Amino acid sequence: MSAFPDYRPRRLRRTATLRRMVRETRVTVDDLILPLFVVPGEGVRKPVASMPGVAQTSVDELVKDAGEAWELGIPAVLLFGIPESKDAKGSGSWAEDGVIQTAVRALKEGVPDLVVITDVCMCEYTSHGHCGVLRDGEVQNDETLELLARQAVSHAEAGADMVAPSDMMDGRVAAIREALDDAGFSHIPILTYAAKFASAFYGPFRDAAESAPREGDRRGYQMDPANDVEAMREVLLDIEEGADIVMVKPALAYLDIVRRVKDETGYPVCAYHVSGEYASIKAAAQLGWLDEDAAMREALLCIRRAGADLIVTYWAREFARGELPGRGA
Ligand code: PBG
Repeated sequence: MSAFPDYRPRRLRRTATLRRMVRETRVTVDDLILPLFVVPGEGVRKPVASMPGVAQTSVDELVKDAGEAWELGIPAVLLFGIPESKDAKGSGSWAEDGVIQTAVRALKEGVPDLVVITDVCMCEYTSHGHCGVLRDGEVQNDETLELLARQAVSHAEAGADMVAPSDMMDGRVAAIREALDDAGFSHIPILTYAAKFASAFYGPFRDAAESAPREGDRRGYQMDPANDVEAMREVLLDIEEGADIVMVKPALAYLDIVRRVKDETGYPVCAYHVSGEYASIKAAAQLGWLDEDAAMREALLCIRRAGADLIVTYWAREFARGELPGRGA
């Protein structure tokens, strides 16, 4: 490598066209997954206060939003359901006429080629808001596995193209894989939230999904933000259990983990650009402190650069609308 003054890195940064030619990373709409929140009823569109631009919608409105996403080139949506009523076991999560099951059937009819991914977790369905069966203040791992497996199979029966367990119970990927295979769904992939950290950045999501725990927190099952060696163990365990795509969540504060997972596994890696990351940029933009478009594009680009193949982002439609054909971000 030659040095200054023979080599001047600025020579290739002088114009937008030159920069375009040597750009190493691009985000395209193909990389994006749009999360959507579905509620019972008809004609419902209820904005989520802490996430400007995001709304809870009933199935009819959901099909419109998903159709728009598909028209914009977004390949996949990730569905979260808010049931009519909740109970201690979260039985609404596997009901044949449950909110997600109904939504999946409608989406597969209305927007057939769109990949419909369903969140598999108990917290939206349990009265206590924890991600599994609660006893004496503790979430019971092995009992929860049966419920998660049941939920995943009911999503597949409704027509889901992929399931995404986000609960962080031990052994759930194996339990879900086995249940799906036994039910004739060996072709349905599992996108696992393999390294999901107990993060303060999920706050706004819990408003959107109405899933905040009534008491306590999720530190007994989600990971300690301090741990990256453990994150690799979690990811490798999920791969051993049959995961197809591994997710790191949140994204921006965890890019070191994204990079490690990509380098050390070679598996497709997904990063979840979570609600709090979205809301912080939105809020700063509303105050006039940040340029929303530029900040969001930079965030998505850097998540890709760290090694994520796929990004779950609430900003997918806005990104797609502004994208210059063939140029990426
Ligand atoms: C459900 C779940 C959560 C998120 C995705 N699935 C919340 C949580 O674990 O409390 C967070 C997504 C976001 O913040 O955008 N377990």
